[in-house]
Amino acid sequence: MPVKVGVVGAGIFGENHLNAFRQLSYLGVAELTAVSEVNEQRAQWVEETYGCLVYRDYNEMFEKAGIDAVTVVTPDHLHRPIMLAAAAAGKHVLVEKPLDVTIEGCREMVDAAKKANVLLQVDFHKRFDPDHIALERRVAAGEFGKVLYGAVCMEDTIEVPSEWLRRWAPSSSPAWFLGVHFYDLVRWVIKSNAKTVFAKGHKGLLRDEHGVDTWDAINATVEFENGAVFTFDTSWILPKSFEAIVNQEIRLVGTKGMWEIDSQYRGSRSCVEGEGMRTWNNNFKREDVDKRGRKIFRGYGIESIEDFAYNVQALQQGATIEKLKGTYPDGEDGLEVTKIGVAVHESISTGMPVNIAP
Ligand SMILES: NC(=O)c1ccc[n+]([C@@H]2O[C@H](COP(=O)([O-])OP(=O)(O)OC[C@H]3O[C@@H](n4cnc5c(N)ncnc54)[C@H](O)[C@@H]3O)[C@@H](O)[C@H]2O)c1
Repeated sequence: MPVKVGVVGAGIFGENHLNAFRQLSYLGVAELTAVSEVNEQRAQWVEETYGCLVYRDYNEMFEKAGIDAVTVVTPDHLHRPIMLAAAAAGKHVLVEKPLDVTIEGCREMVDAAKKANVLLQVDFHKRFDPDHIALERRVAAGEFGKVLYGAVCMEDTIEVPSEWLRRWAPSSSPAWFLGVHFYDLVRWVIKSNAKTVFAKGHKGLLRDEHGVDTWDAINATVEFENGAVFTFDTSWILPKSFEAIVNQEIRLVGTKGMWEIDSQYRGSRSCVEGEGMRTWNNNFKREDVDKRGRKIFRGYGIESIEDFAYNVQALQQGATIEKLKGTYPDGEDGLEVTKIGVAVHESISTGMPVNIAP
């Protein structure tokens, strides 16, 4: 039996969730059973494009749609009440990153999932990138010796906060929207939680010239419990003319070696009239057709969502949440990442390093 999924939030990233479950229906793994969306235009678009039932109220969907699992793809600060309601209704839940923007919120969500005995997965898709998987494997095998330090950058172009997410960018930041991806990735690669954070932020361009009161850039230095130190440079003010929507890199140095991954530019670039020079990260998402000519998408941006359906299917076939632990980013990972995000913002406002409580 396919896993019956309901998606809450069919905005820009919600489309990826809808595509992931639609294509899993071709394999009999999942079924996009229902969607909940409060925006009329988007609701209509879902009905026309995916032909599935759209509820305006997610509680009604949980009650009436007969779904096994829910994915939460609403703005960052709106994940918590939806996840809590889904867990209370006995649904397995995949939550977009960040799990929540407060530590109490994450704890409440982890506890609610435990109480209801439902899976809580967080969509930290950087773990599904083939280059990052190779990095994790080789670090775990000790090939780099003891990891000493590293550096990450993740940057979006300015239309992301000033146009796409204009309504809720003031409730988010480059740390919440972008940094969390790599806070999680580094934790996962080096198998250590963050201990101390020192961060600086810059405000001005988005607030004064675009009327969006949020941080332009956030630079954080994080010391992990195992002694490794990583810097995380995040911003969402790259010019629109940049060669892609996102720029991202990670480098890591250990006592026996180093690795640098340009997580955006994988050696694929194009230039067509009117578009300028573009670079393509086809590892993230690429359009394809299956053997029957149906449009499908491949790449880690889709696979991390599909992974949730496979996990729920495994549970339905007799696996336990305990047995699956460690094979996917779970609520506890979401909590540890949010601890870093909270410490980053606290350090910016106090000007002091912040120790993270275990
Ligand atoms: N994994 C990734 O790489 C990635 C990329 C982009 C965004 N995201 C995350 O996905 C989430 C959504 O981002 P987005 O870019 O799609 O934002 P968006 O603003 O484009 O879409 C959010 C949608 O949620 C809907 N919504 C809000 N409240 C709702 C409710 N109570 N019930 C039903 N629908 C509701 C809105 O109408 C909107 O259509 C965010 O948490 C964001 O951080 C993840």
